Amino acid sequence: MSQYVPAGVLDGKVAVVSGASRGIGRAIALALAAAGASVVGMARTASALDDLGDEAAAGGADFLAVPGDLSDVDSIADMAAASWDWKGHVDVLVNAAGTIVRSEVLEVTPSEWDLVFATNVRGSFFLSQALGGKMLAGNGGSIVNVASVAAEVTTGASAPYSASKAALVHLTRVLSIRWAPTIRVNAVGPAYVRTELNTEWLDAGENLSWVVERTPLGRVGEPADVAGAVVFLASPAAAYITGQHLLIDGGWTAQ
Ligand SMILES: NC(=O)c1ccc[n+]([C@@H]2O[C@H](COP(=O)([O-])OP(=O)(O)OC[C@H]3O[C@@H](n4cnc5c(N)ncnc54)[C@H](OP(=O)(O)O)[C@@H]3O)[C@@H](O)[C@H]2O)c1
Repeated sequence: MSQYVPAGVLDGKVAVVSGASRGIGRAIALALAAAGASVVGMARTASALDDLGDEAAAGGADFLAVPGDLSDVDSIADMAAASWDWKGHVDVLVNAAGTIVRSEVLEVTPSEWDLVFATNVRGSFFLSQALGGKMLAGNGGSIVNVASVAAEVTTGASAPYSASKAALVHLTRVLSIRWAPTIRVNAVGPAYVRTELNTEWLDAGENLSWVVERTPLGRVGEPADVAGAVVFLASPAAAYITGQHLLIDGGWTAQ
């Protein structure tokens, strides 16, 4: 498993990670903790956040679980307030929470569309608004949105999911301009990473071989592949980088 975590690079920083209960967000939370940050983990599943807290604490990290629902704006306000009040500052926000629907274009329902956009776009926007406003008035910081290669090219992902990630990438660019130079705002765009989100899909029919054949590096991604890029973008090593969508796609889009 690849891992890029320069120890100490985020010492003294508070990093908030949504979608921290499993998969890519969980790996990001642990990587930010290994880089020295105190980490706030958000998701709906409190028990999974507690498990993550135990693992972070075993590694010597400071961790706060803040359970809540990102599709509910009142819950977002509560989660943002609890995160900020923990240490009186937040320096890094990673919007990793996301959901997907698999329906083909002619089968997509309004409620599926709304769920995907409420979580992937509206949730990320209002969490950024709630914490970004305080970061702007404080010490500034860095926001990293977990978008997708599906925002840039057509993959096997559904229309609502792909459109939601394209919206998140453009939101990244807009906020990077509105909030420069105080807050840097970037996105990472994974291709296929094996997590609960897509394991069933990857293991169905020929999907896995379809993905691997289109991936020059010859494998699906792992959560740690994404976490390393997020630590980099959150760190001072990326001090002159803002408004970018860094694709973590094993070469998929270079073809
Ligand atoms: N896996 C891939 O191939 C891939 C590729 C490109 C981009 N991505 C993106 O990477 C991010 C993480 O995906 P993953 O693969 O790690 O998926 P995952 O294993 O399904 O994890 C999704 C995370 O989002 C949280 N979440 C979902 N809806 C939420 C809500 N309404 N409120 C609060 N938290 C919510 C989940 O926590 P709870 O269920 O506990 O609330 C969970 O922690 C997503 O944004 C996804 O779109 C994934």
